[in-house]
Amino acid sequence: MKAFAEKKVLLSNVGAIDPERIEDYLDRGGYEGLRAALKRSPAEVVGEIKESRLRGRGGAGFPTGLKWELVLKSRAKTRYVVCNADEGEPGTFKDRVLMEGDPHRLIEGMTICGYAVGAKRGFIYVRGEYALSIRRLERAISQARQRGLLGRKILGSDFSFDLEVRAGAGAYVCGEETALLESLEGKRGWPRIRPPFPVDYGFRGKPTVVNNVETLANVPEIMCRGAAWYRTLGTGDSPGTKLYPLSGALNRPRLVEAEMGVPLRTLIYDFGGGLPGGRELKGVLVGGAAGAFLAPEELDVPMDFKSLWEIGAGLGSGAVLVFDETACVIDVLWSVLSFFAHEACGQCTPCRVGTVILLSLLEKVQNGSGDPAVLEKMLKVTHLMKVASLCPLGQSVRLPVETALEKFRREFESHLKEGPCPQCKATTEVHA
Ligand SMILES: Cc1cc2nc3c(=O)[nH]c(=O)nc-3n(C[C@H](O)[C@H](O)[C@H](O)COP(=O)(O)O)c2cc1C
Ligand code: SF4
Repeated sequence: MKAFAEKKVLLSNVGAIDPERIEDYLDRGGYEGLRAALKRSPAEVVGEIKESRLRGRGGAGFPTGLKWELVLKSRAKTRYVVCNADEGEPGTFKDRVLMEGDPHRLIEGMTICGYAVGAKRGFIYVRGEYALSIRRLERAISQARQRGLLGRKILGSDFSFDLEVRAGAGAYVCGEETALLESLEGKRGWPRIRPPFPVDYGFRGKPTVVNNVETLANVPEIMCRGAAWYRTLGTGDSPGTKLYPLSGALNRPRLVEAEMGVPLRTLIYDFGGGLPGGRELKGVLVGGAAGAFLAPEELDVPMDFKSLWEIGAGLGSGAVLVFDETACVIDVLWSVLSFFAHEACGQCTPCRVGTVILLSLLEKVQNGSGDPAVLEKMLKVTHLMKVASLCPLGQSVRLPVETALEKFRREFESHLKEGPCPQCKATTEVHA
């Protein structure tokens, strides 16, 4: 079995450079990826990204090269690049570390993307609470402009491209790419019905690449070292490294970078230092609030897109939230569902009403209503939300609910029979 150590590719500069000095980035080979890209045709750059098999790190794992190719091949003259830096997923703090610690890497990745797809303008839509990220990005953009790395005729070529930072207003749904585009256009952040997808109808109706921060941060490295090198990292289906935000009941909660496919067990016990006080692991929520609950028997799962899909879960943002034997699963699910109920934008009924019904059903479980049909009703509601909700926010609520019920059924049943357990306190407080 392959042994995994931490592997710093995307984080190689974080903590090692002063993120406010472009000189530090340049000294470590910064903007060499852009120089390499400008020596090749846009189609060749897209070809390299396709060959690298880079998958988007925003959650869905969509092939990045394919997305870029669709925009490159569009007939529209005006095209855009948008970076999704909304990072609202609970337990997720990876994009923040990249933006605060190495902002030029993102700017370089976006500029290469702009060149590859024929865009002249790009936007970075940053979560409003990330004040330091915003400040550092703005500073880095102005430094790049002064050095001819952004703006007109970049590095003496015929390619012109510029970037703007826009702050979001704190709605989780604005991380969904079409809601983000609406918000970027100055409108209410409501998801659009897809199709059409942003590659056809994006910002102001023009073809637009929307990529996550971490996705774009991979691009300079691929341009410098080549797709073949990139594919030596990770798995065949999901090459490269991944940033894994570790949180919850761990001795060392933090952000780690490792090759795709690292077992969940290694993340928890080696990189996260195991559970405090020798406590037993009860379960893990993988991929953020819209992720899946995994049981201790599943710890050997490789943390890459395909392996997690194969067990009915998803990599999502890569977030790993660990909870120990003292946690109540009903309590954890309560927090997840309250989050969804709060963040549902209200545009469609299945999600707006479904999330509230789920909370009321969970309350019946916790209070020991004694009616086992409640659990089947919860599954019915999530199924309805999956098929009838307008956007992936409502559609994905089924994953935490179904996996919690599947993996921890006995805990649900004992609450139904006996009412709140001693660990239910937090939930009761939320009710009050
Ligand atoms: C409710 C919701 C929230 C999302 N939040 C984010 C986010 O904060 N950051 C992000 O990159 N993608 C987020 N996504 C995924 C985006 O819609 C989109 O798939 C992603 O930005 C595409 O970039 P990628 O191909 O580089 O992964 C979210 C999706 C949903 C449904
Ligand atoms: S599924 Fe939820 S978040 Fe998405 S459009 Fe409907 S109400 Fe809004």
